[in-house]
This record gives sequence, C-alpha cells and structure tokens, in this order.
Amino acid sequence: MHVLNDKKTKELKWHRDQYFHGKVFVGPKFKLYKLAIYLQDTNKNNGVTGFIPKFISPRFRNRYLDTIFAYLSSFLSIHPRLSIGEAVIFSGKVMHHRPRQKNNKFREAIIFSCTNSPNNLPNLKDDENEFLNVFLKSKIELSIK
Ligand SMILES: [Fe+2]
Repeated sequence: MHVLNDKKTKELKWHRDQYFHGKVFVGPKFKLYKLAIYLQDTNKNNGVTGFIPKFISPRFRNRYLDTIFAYLSSFLSIHPRLSIGEAVIFSGKVMHHRPRQKNNKFREAIIFSCTNSPNNLPNLKDDENEFLNVFLKSKIELSIK
C-alpha cells in the first residue's frame, strides 16, 4: 500500500505495470491488480488515473513502441470522474497514466497492490504488508475454501 499526493509525485507517463520487452517480462511475476481509492473528488484536472481501453491498446513486446502507441492513441483515453471515497481497480497489464495537474487542488489516493493468486504468497514475505492478499493468507491459514 502507498499513499500519493501531488506535492511528492508529479505526472506519470503512459505505462503498464506488467509487460514484455522482447522475451523479458517486466513487473511483478504474479497476477497484479491495483486498487486506487481517492480521498477527494478527483478528475482529469487534478490527476485521476487515466486508461487506454484494451481494444485500442495492442500490447507490443517492445516498451518503446508500446509507449509511443499509447501517446498516439491517448486522445481516446478514459479519465474517470470520481467522488471522495470512490475507487478504481485495474489490471497491471492495462495502459494507464496520471495526467499533469491542471488546478491547484490537492490530490491524495491510497493505492493497494492486490493479487488473487495464493500460489505467490510464499514469494511475498518481504512485501507482505503491501498486499491485500494478507486476507488470502488468513483464508488459507483458516482452511477456508
Ligand atoms: Fe502504474
């Protein structure tokens, strides 16, 4: 889990959290989802996460081509308008970014990295507190199916 605000973090370029560059897989090696909870009304003007839908975002196995294509197709991107407390969840494979803030409103979000893959739990010992799968671990320990 981490908390962001615009005093510390600026615009984030278009990217995927998980992708192939050639034969190399970049990013966490498990099914990844990000859950971002916004702590104020948030839209494109104050830095809501924007997305390029999968059907117009082919995944090139070259991060430079992938990024260039994202910028070329970004006029079709989607930026949700969220009220305080609302959240988005998205796959680590989806093309996303955080636009430059166009107003002086403060923007805070709590962002969780989540997985639904209990097979990865033993590999996450160092990051245990960063993952919602702590709940999955409890489920396994209690033998809940
Ligand atoms: Fe990201």
